Amino acid sequence: SLSHAVILGAVALGAMALPAVAQDRITIKFSHVVTADAPKGKAAEYFKRLVEERTNGRVVVEVYPNSQLYKDKEEIEALQLGAVQLLAPAYAKLGSMGLREFEVFDLPYLFDSMADAQKVTQGPIGQELLKKAESRGITGLAFWDNSFKQMTANRPLRTPEDFKGLKLRIQSSKVLDAQMRALNALPQVLAFSEVYQALQTGVVDGQENPFSNIYTQKFHEVQKALTVTNHGYHGYLLLTNKRFWDELPVELRGVLTTAIKDSTAYFNSIAKQDDDAALDAIRKSGKTDIVELTPQEKAGLKKALLPVHKMMAARVGDGLIKSIYKATG
Ligand code: LMR
Repeated sequence: SLSHAVILGAVALGAMALPAVAQDRITIKFSHVVTADAPKGKAAEYFKRLVEERTNGRVVVEVYPNSQLYKDKEEIEALQLGAVQLLAPAYAKLGSMGLREFEVFDLPYLFDSMADAQKVTQGPIGQELLKKAESRGITGLAFWDNSFKQMTANRPLRTPEDFKGLKLRIQSSKVLDAQMRALNALPQVLAFSEVYQALQTGVVDGQENPFSNIYTQKFHEVQKALTVTNHGYHGYLLLTNKRFWDELPVELRGVLTTAIKDSTAYFNSIAKQDDDAALDAIRKSGKTDIVELTPQEKAGLKKALLPVHKMMAARVGDGLIKSIYKATG
């Protein structure tokens, strides 16, 4: 609760001034929306283990998976209020809190490979973006590069025409809205925790996510076709409440910073194998058709979607888009 966080803040302040309370516990609540066995859930648990071991339990990390504490929009508000201390939302959720630059990552076909994405997120452009996050009462800590998104629906999505008129769930990103409209689909913003039921009941016809999310949320059980589009980069910004972070005792902040570095390396090392394993498991389940595109079909989708870069340049920053093109050659 909010008062709990205020008390924690006070404890952190007191710990600097008074050695007597230096042994008091600090609790970090880490809220997220995926399952515990999705890459983000695993990395959250990994971070918890590192932090609790390395601080001898002085810092306790409570991980709340599956939107059990907060849904997409609420978790960001809760962080700004100080009711939770750590989140790792997908970039597509940051625009709604004023961090529009992060929607640049939603541009379709921005990156050809995860190596290209990492040149940006783990390089100087990523560092610049973390600084921008700083101005909103939050502190950006790390980029967790997840995977690429695929499209699911009740029919194969091979050509732009196949998307026409479909109601497709998106995260709350203006770039994703423009992406779906470029295909003449009807985008609908829904919280992640509501997607399964919306697909099952036909409130929406389809959605986009990496294989690991599709599998762990069982979307493949309520969608007839999964089209392998790899059309969009998917990753997370690990972030914390700036005040909470700044008020931590210096030595603890150091331990946490190293644990974040190690957890980022862990996340980035498991994401691909988890995504590949999820595709295998979806295939083995036999519950949905996996549709591979021909090179011509891929080119057709790309042609329909690339104009979204220009359309959204004013929102996410023309200079930022150009520097990303440059960094990825
Ligand atoms: C979503 O579709 O909302 C997801 O990308 C959620 C997540 O955190 O992976």
